[in-house]
Amino acid sequence: MIRSYFPKCVAVVALLALSVGALDTFSAAVYEHTVIIPNRTETPVSKEEGLLLMNKNIDVLEKAVKLAVKQGAHIIVTPEDGIYGWVFTRESIYPYLEDIPDPGVNWIPCREPWRFGNTPVQQRLSCLAKDNSIYVVANIGDMKPCNGKLVARYHKYNLFAPEIQFDFPKDSELVTFNTPFGKSGIFTCFDIFSHDPAVVVVVDEFQVDSILYPIAWYNVLPLLSAVPFHSACAKAMGVNLLAANTHNTSMHMTGSGIYTPEAVKVYHYDVETESGQLLLSDPKSQPRREPTYPEAVDWHAYASSVKPFSSEQSDFPGMIYFDEFTFTELKRNPGNYTDEVYALGAFDGLHTVEGQYYLQLELLKYCQTTDLETYGEAVGSAFTRFEDFSLSGTFGMHYVFPQIILSGSQLAPERHYEISRDGRLRSRSGAPLPVLVMALYGRVLEKDPPCLGQGPGKFQ
Ligand SMILES: *[C@@H]1O[C@H](CO)[C@@H](O)[C@H](O)[C@H]1NC(C)=O
Ligand SMILES: *[C@@H]1O[C@H](CO)[C@@H](O)[C@H](O)[C@H]1NC(C)=O
Ligand SMILES: *[C@@H]1O[C@H](CO)[C@@H](O)[C@H](O)[C@H]1NC(C)=O
Repeated sequence: MIRSYFPKCVAVVALLALSVGALDTFSAAVYEHTVIIPNRTETPVSKEEGLLLMNKNIDVLEKAVKLAVKQGAHIIVTPEDGIYGWVFTRESIYPYLEDIPDPGVNWIPCREPWRFGNTPVQQRLSCLAKDNSIYVVANIGDMKPCNGKLVARYHKYNLFAPEIQFDFPKDSELVTFNTPFGKSGIFTCFDIFSHDPAVVVVVDEFQVDSILYPIAWYNVLPLLSAVPFHSACAKAMGVNLLAANTHNTSMHMTGSGIYTPEAVKVYHYDVETESGQLLLSDPKSQPRREPTYPEAVDWHAYASSVKPFSSEQSDFPGMIYFDEFTFTELKRNPGNYTDEVYALGAFDGLHTVEGQYYLQLELLKYCQTTDLETYGEAVGSAFTRFEDFSLSGTFGMHYVFPQIILSGSQLAPERHYEISRDGRLRSRSGAPLPVLVMALYGRVLEKDPPCLGQGPGKFQ
């Protein structure tokens, strides 16, 4: 048997039927976990040593599960790579993998631990869910003998309750299932960028209410920082997003949250300590049925009805995360300026580094210096405050993720801005905001290449 290729990255969902009827709201928990990672090695450790390390991580997750249950949680999402980390070669990952059977087998590992061979991690996760009457979302690698052929990454779940209805999308990679708190779907990290199956299939076709989202996401400023980006995803897709990130400050991994279509319910972003963090909140079970559900936005309407922005300043190029933007310094109207420089930037093209995906985006960005070469660089704090703003563009598509990041990487609270139906991201309260970046991040799914490949925040 050739063991050189293993499919990786599988979301395992341990499910347990709750003895409750349909819920209007539910209590959701996400846990940002500081993963205990093994020492780097080329030669695989023994299965026992691997299990020892995984059990150390599950001990921590177990505490978080119990704490969440005590506070009434119905579901807890734990991070991608949360059980063994990410420092592996294709060979050294081997002792950490288990064969995860097809969910159709209707198996409760806690009750029948040996039915599919030696699967101690699935057994422990299953018992954790069963004994605590909670849905546990965890992420472990699946291993399949595959005769040298690379098997695509895919997701599976273990079914613990026969009465739960499962839908199998035509493409077996993505899963949706019904719970007492609406329909849920699962993505891991980079899936959120994709048309098929993630965004369009799961969100639009299957009309899911909540996405369970284990991630190992490293923040890439200014546009791909976990909390602003994922909260924008929840808004753009109109779903609850339960995002659990791994925590490792030296790898820039932090940023978990519970996001709804209307607002950020709770988030955690900590670049100071190495502690884990449990977050809880009560989102609506079926946000689409709420009167407050945001109306569809026409991301083309406003900007196409006004005269194009013209400036006496000349355009200049600047790089943001390997994409060449066109910038214009913001300096036209009379007003009080500080020494700080802001620029408007735009990009329309195929992003090609660490994954290929088509972007159309527009942003207003604070720039550290007046040196043109540095305009694309990320900056930490700004002192200029915007009392009134409106950003719009003539986007040709539906998926535009609006973000506002304030000085100190803080999120702008929803009460300070709105997204109007005609496609404007604009100020609302008049409270002056120290804006670092304000962006409309558009994904043109129809122009993507067939395979997006490896994406931001994805380690393997
Ligand atoms: C890594 O190696 C050091 C030194 O041999 C040891 O003390 C430590 O426990 C090891 N860590 C893990 C996670 O195995
Ligand atoms: C964070 O990740 C790095 C690189 O993978 C590792 O060396 C370090 O020990 C991790 N930090 C903690 C606190 O686990
Ligand atoms: C500039 O600031 C001064 C003092 O705060 C204020 O009186 C003046 O109206 C401002 N001018 C403009 C154009 O905003």
